[in-house]
Amino acid sequence: MAGPKRTNSGARDAFTLIDIVRVVGGLLFLNAFFSWWFTSTSTWGYNGKWINTQYLKHRLTNNYVNLTIDELALYNGSDMSLPIYIGVNGYVYDVTASRGIYGPKGSYSKLSGKDASRLYVTGCFMNPEEYTYDLRGLKEEEAKQELSEWQQFFEEHPKYWLAGYVQRPDPVGEPPAPCEHIKFPGRRTKNAGN
Ligand code: HEM
Ligand SMILES: *[C@@H]1O[C@H](CO)[C@@H](O)[C@H](O)[C@H]1NC(C)=O
Ligand SMILES: *[C@@H]1O[C@H](CO)[C@@H](O)[C@H](O)[C@H]1NC(C)=O
Repeated sequence: MAGPKRTNSGARDAFTLIDIVRVVGGLLFLNAFFSWWFTSTSTWGYNGKWINTQYLKHRLTNNYVNLTIDELALYNGSDMSLPIYIGVNGYVYDVTASRGIYGPKGSYSKLSGKDASRLYVTGCFMNPEEYTYDLRGLKEEEAKQELSEWQQFFEEHPKYWLAGYVQRPDPVGEPPAPCEHIKFPGRRTKNAGN
């Protein structure tokens, strides 16, 4: 009755670390399995920055870049080993997740690797001079409003994040000539009457 068998069952009663690992591992596996079954992804369809290793690394190290205009130009998506950055109002956002939009073949590739703040206000995409942070000649209120909305867009975007800052010397020479502004069609319902 007593003897080896008893000690054996005694050992079974103890809930060991191995058991915890087994249970947690099993639950994780089941979670991934059902997620795959229902959504064809292992994360229930979530694809945002919280499962992006680059973002997690940034959060852990709390590392912010501080780039010159020339340095920022390297991050235009041409070098696959570097992230893609865009500058807005002196802030640098990591938009690598949308290589299809900001990479060399993307519809908005001309915005990457620069601080084209002026363009976010005017929408004058055809004019190469507009791809600058020089806001001289624009209506101050309009520029402030548009830029803060764009900043908000990039900051709150599920896949993008604030990566740091860009150093911007005061603009010199003639500012770009005035152009007819184009309104961004999205996010404008609350000001629809303006
Ligand atoms: C001030 C003017 C404008 C600015 C600054 C602007 C900027 C942008 C930016 C930054 C994106 C990418 C958003 C993201 O990362 O998801 C975008 C997307 C888009 N914009 Fe514009 N845009 C402007 C005007 C327009 C106009 C007038 C149209 C259409 C006639 C347009 C059509 C689109 C479309 C279709 C997308 C989606 C592109 C894609 O997902 O590949 N935009 N815009
Ligand atoms: C970025 O670096 C420049 C030059 O070293 C410095 O003057 C500036 O304060 C820095 N900006 C930020 C936001 O750290
Ligand atoms: C991106 O920047 C690099 C280095 O400045 C440049 O050689 C390349 O032509 C740029 N690519 C695009 C698509 O503008």
